[in-house]
Amino acid sequence: MRKHKSSKRSLRPSPLLPVLLLAAGALAIAQDAAEDPTLSAGSFTIRRFDHRAFSEPASVLTPKQRQIFMAGRSVFNRKWASVNSLNGDWGLGPTFIADRCSACHVNSGRGSPPQSSGEQLLSMLVRLSTPGTDEHGGPKPHPNYGDQLQNRSLDGRSVDLAYAGAPVPNEADLFLDWEESTAAFADGETVTLRRPKLRIENLKFGELGADTMTSLRMAQPLVGIGFLEAVPEETILSIAAKQRALNFNGRPNRVWDAVNRRMSLGRFGWKANVPGLKQQIAAAAIGDMGVNSNLYAEQNCPPVQTLCAKQLPGNFPEIIDREIDAVELWLQGLAVPARRDVDDAQVRRGAELFARAQCAVCHVPAMKTGAFAKLPQLSGQVFHAYTDLLLHDLGEGLADGRPDFGAGPRDWRTPALWGLGLSQIVGGGIALLHDGRARNVTEAILWHGGEATDAREAFRRMTGGEREYLIRFVESI
Ligand code: HEC
Ligand code: HEC
Repeated sequence: MRKHKSSKRSLRPSPLLPVLLLAAGALAIAQDAAEDPTLSAGSFTIRRFDHRAFSEPASVLTPKQRQIFMAGRSVFNRKWASVNSLNGDWGLGPTFIADRCSACHVNSGRGSPPQSSGEQLLSMLVRLSTPGTDEHGGPKPHPNYGDQLQNRSLDGRSVDLAYAGAPVPNEADLFLDWEESTAAFADGETVTLRRPKLRIENLKFGELGADTMTSLRMAQPLVGIGFLEAVPEETILSIAAKQRALNFNGRPNRVWDAVNRRMSLGRFGWKANVPGLKQQIAAAAIGDMGVNSNLYAEQNCPPVQTLCAKQLPGNFPEIIDREIDAVELWLQGLAVPARRDVDDAQVRRGAELFARAQCAVCHVPAMKTGAFAKLPQLSGQVFHAYTDLLLHDLGEGLADGRPDFGAGPRDWRTPALWGLGLSQIVGGGIALLHDGRARNVTEAILWHGGEATDAREAFRRMTGGEREYLIRFVESI
C-alpha cells in the first residue's frame, strides 16, 4: 500500500451511525419526490445507454429551447481553424491544445491519457502558476507561459495549410511517463497502481523555474452538468455543516466570477475554481483553443511570445455571445441516463456498502435544484449525481501541490459519479481521477487518502465479493 499521511482527525466518535443517518436522510428526499429509483435526474432522465447517452436533449425542453440546444451542440463539436474555410471557423490559436471542445470531452464524456510515452497530451491540460496570487486571489500565471502550457500552435505544420501568418511556435511538448506501485487488500490480493509523471520537452521561452507549479488535468465528463449549477448555494453549505458534525472537512471554494465581477462559490473544474457555466465555456475557448470572446478578449500571448502576438487577428470576438449562450443552454439542457440494475441484489448490497464505507458523506446520493431562471425546467428537481461540490483534502498521494483560490495543494472537488459506468461506451475510455491515473473504480478508491482514508481502508478490508458489489453499484449510478 502506498503511504498516505493519516488523517488528522483520527478520533472519530462512532462514525457509522451518523453516516447511515445522513445517507438515510438523502434517500428519504429521493423517495418523497421520485418513486422510480432509476430516475437519475427527474424529468431530465433518458433511457439511452449508447455513445450518445451524455449528449442528448432532455425531453422537457420546449421546441425553441431545443433549437438553441442543437445550435449549442454544433458549436461544441465545431472545429476551429486559422482562416475562414468550409471545414472550420476562424479563431483557433495562435497557441492552443485542441481545435474543438469535443476533442477533449469525447461525446460529452471524459478524456483519456496518451496511449504511449511518445504521444503528446491531447484531451488533458497542464495548469501552471508561480507562488503568490493574481489580483483576484487566484493562481498567479507564469510570466513567459501564462496559466496553461499550450503544446500546439499555428506553426504551419499541425493545422490548416491555408494559414498565411508567420509560424507561431508552440510553448512546449507534453508527454507522460508512468510510475508504478503496488497496493494490497486485507485479503492479500494485490493491484498495480500508476501515477503520471509529466515530461515537458522543448520549452521555447526558457526554463519554467524551480518554483513553478504544474497541475495535470483530465477533461471531465459533462453529463448532467446543469444540475450542478442549479443547486442552491445554501444546500452546498448545509452539506458542509453536516460533514463537520461527522468530522469531515468539506469546504466550498470561493473564486473570481468574471461574469458578475465578484467572488462567488466555485462549482466547476477539479478544484471547483470556476463559478458558472458561461465563464467555464469562455475560459475553455480562450485557454484550450485560443478562441477569444467578449469575456476574455486578450489572446494568450505573454510578452516574450512576440510571434504569437503578431498573428493575423480572427473576427473579434471569435466566439460571439449568442454562441456562448447556446453552448450554455446545451450544457444545461443535457439529459442524464437512467440508473441501471437497480433491482439487482448485488447492486443493492453495494449501495449499503457505499454508505457504510462513508463514500456517501462526500459522494452525496441526492440533492435538489433550486429555482433556476435560465432553464426553468431544471428548477426543483431531485437528482442523484453523487457529489457535494465541496473541496476535500485527499492526501499526499493525489496532491498536485498547486493552490487555486481557496483550494489547497491537496484539495479536490468531489466529482459526480453518475454515468461513470457508461464511460467506456460514451468516450471510449475510463480514465478516472483528476489526472486520469486510475484505470477503474478499484484503483480510484485505492488512491483516496487524507479525509477519505477511513473510506479507503473500509474498502481495503472488504472481501473480494463485497468489493465487487460496491463497484457494481458505483457503475450503476
Ligand atoms: C484541451 C482539452 C479541453 C478542451 C478543448 C475543452 N475542455 Fe472543458 N475541460 C477540460 C479539462 C481538463 C477540464 C477540467 C479543468 C480543471 O480542472 O481545471 C474541463 C472542464 C470543463 C467543464 C467543467 C466540468 C465539471 O464537472 O466541473 C465544462 C463545463 C467544460 N470543460 C466545458 C467545455 C467547453 C464548452 C469547451 C469548448 C468551449 C471545452 N470544455 C473545451 C478539457 C478541455
Ligand atoms: C472525503 C470525501 C470523499 C470520500 C469519503 C470518498 N470520496 Fe471518492 N472522491 C473524492 C474526491 C475529492 C475525488 C477526486 C480526487 C481526484 O481526482 O484526485 C474522488 C474521486 C472518486 C472517484 C473517481 C471519479 C472520477 O470521475 O474520476 C471514484 C470512482 C470515487 N471517488 C469513489 C469513491 C468511493 C467508492 C468511496 C468510498 C469507498 C469514496 N469515493 C469516498 C472524495 C471522496
